[in-house]
Formats: sequence, structure tokens, C-alpha cells
Amino acid sequence: MALRLAALCGGDTGVLMISAFPDGEFHLRFRDDLTGRCVVLICTLARPNDKIVPLLFAADAARQLGARKVGLVAPYLCYMRQDRSFKPGEAVTSRSFAALLSRACDWLVTVDPHLHRYKSLSEIYAIPARALHAGPAIAAWIGAHVTRPFLIGPDAESRQWVGAVAGACGAGFAVLSKQRLGDRDVTSSLGDLRIPDGATPVLLDDIVSTGATMAEAIRLLGPLGALPPVAIAVHGLLSDGAQPILDAGLVTTNTVPGPAAAIDISGLIAAGIADLVT
Ligand code: R5P
Repeated sequence: MALRLAALCGGDTGVLMISAFPDGEFHLRFRDDLTGRCVVLICTLARPNDKIVPLLFAADAARQLGARKVGLVAPYLCYMRQDRSFKPGEAVTSRSFAALLSRACDWLVTVDPHLHRYKSLSEIYAIPARALHAGPAIAAWIGAHVTRPFLIGPDAESRQWVGAVAGACGAGFAVLSKQRLGDRDVTSSLGDLRIPDGATPVLLDDIVSTGATMAEAIRLLGPLGALPPVAIAVHGLLSDGAQPILDAGLVTTNTVPGPAAAIDISGLIAAGIADLVT
């Protein structure tokens, strides 16, 4: 992604060497002269915990080494789903993480962050934080690969993505209702869903983690007798247990690299950072 973005934006790619001391502490070294440069760190934040500390150190080091600006491109932005304290004493990690990044970087660009109770990143990020949308790229993929699509969102939160992509495809859409019983346990209902005759159901969500949400939606669609559904997600986090949904043909964007990442959004990101890297 860094190489593609540098090529598309007319920038250079630098080398950041990260190693660990025997006790596990990180050692970082930039190999390039950063004086006066706009440094863009490209770091997708799936499985984030091992990435966050070196990322914060890298941003700070770049500043100390004379970078004019330090921006972060996080194609997938982590810690957005804990957007309130659901139980007494629970940390609202979305806010804490936003505070960390806001201190470390001058700007942030990401793709379809999980905005549910927050309407915009600016509610928690104190720096310019831009959310790009993969919808047009997903709609183009659907247009090229699916005949007569009918879009289905697996839960209420997906309505924003499903509605936009359905509009771009000129397709109808519906949204299921979902109840999460546990990390890997969801139950959904179809409501009054009707799939038009001859249409291909296209399930679309922002994130596939365990795959439980998608698997439940596919299970419910089975008895309707429609064509087999196509499952698409913006971010394929693909935690343990997601293999069945991969086997079912899941397609994702490449905000997170992986076996399902067939929809390239590097052009979207390059266009989204063009005015920030001048
Ligand atoms: C929910 O908040 C998200 O939009 C996704 O539906 C959810 O993260 C999917 O998780 P899983 O694949 O583990 O069901």
C-alpha cells in the first residue's frame, strides 16, 4: 500500500527499521533524512495492539528528526466500536485511542471508520481526521461481478454503507435486525425481507471479524430460495473462526491485506490525501 500510494501521489518511500531488544522493548530507526518532509505513516490497524506502540514512537521520532508534518493513513482504524460504556466501569477505548493519535499525528486519513454512535471522527479526534468511503469502489465491483444485485445489511449499523452502495448500483436494499449475544454469537431476524425474483442477494457490512454476523445472515437467507448470496465487507479483520465465511466466498477491500481483499482502494486513498501531502 505504501509503495502504491507513493507512486500515485508522486512521493518517496522511506525505510523505517523496527526491531526489538531482548527484553521486548522496540528499537526504531528511520533510514532517510526527514528534515522538512511531510512524513506519511501507512499503518492499517487490524490486530492493533502490537502496532500501536511502534506507531506512536515512529510519529514522535519523525517529528524529532525534523519532519514538517506527520500524517497517518490507517486504511482500517481500530478501537472505534467501543463508542460508549455499555456496562459500568467499561473503558470507552475509542476516545482514549483518539486522544493518543491526536497527540502523535498532525492528521489522520482512514476508510469507513465504524461511526455508529459518533456521527463524525471530529467528535473524538482533535486533529483533522478524514473518513473516505469505499462505497463507490464496492459498487463498481458489484457492477462488474453481480447480476441484478439486491443489497442486504446484516444489522442496523450497516444501513449507512448498504444504502449508499445500493444507490450507486441502482439496486434495492434491506437491513436485517441483529442481536449480539456474545463475541461469536449473534442472532438475526429477516423482518419482512422480500428478495425480488431473479435478484442476487449481496450482503454488505463494514467489518467481518469472526464472521458470525455474516454467517447468521447467510443462514437466514437460505430458506428464502434466492440465488446464493455474495458477502462483501469493507474491512476483513478475519479473526479466528472466520474460515467458513472465507470459504463462502467473502470479498473485501484491501484496507486489510488478506485472502479476500479483491477490491483495491489505494486510488481512493491517494486522492484522499493529495491535498495533505503538498
Ligand atoms: C458491528 O458493529 C460491525 O458492523 C460488524 O457487524 C461486526 O464487527 C462483525 O463482527 P463479526 O464478524 O465478529 O460478527
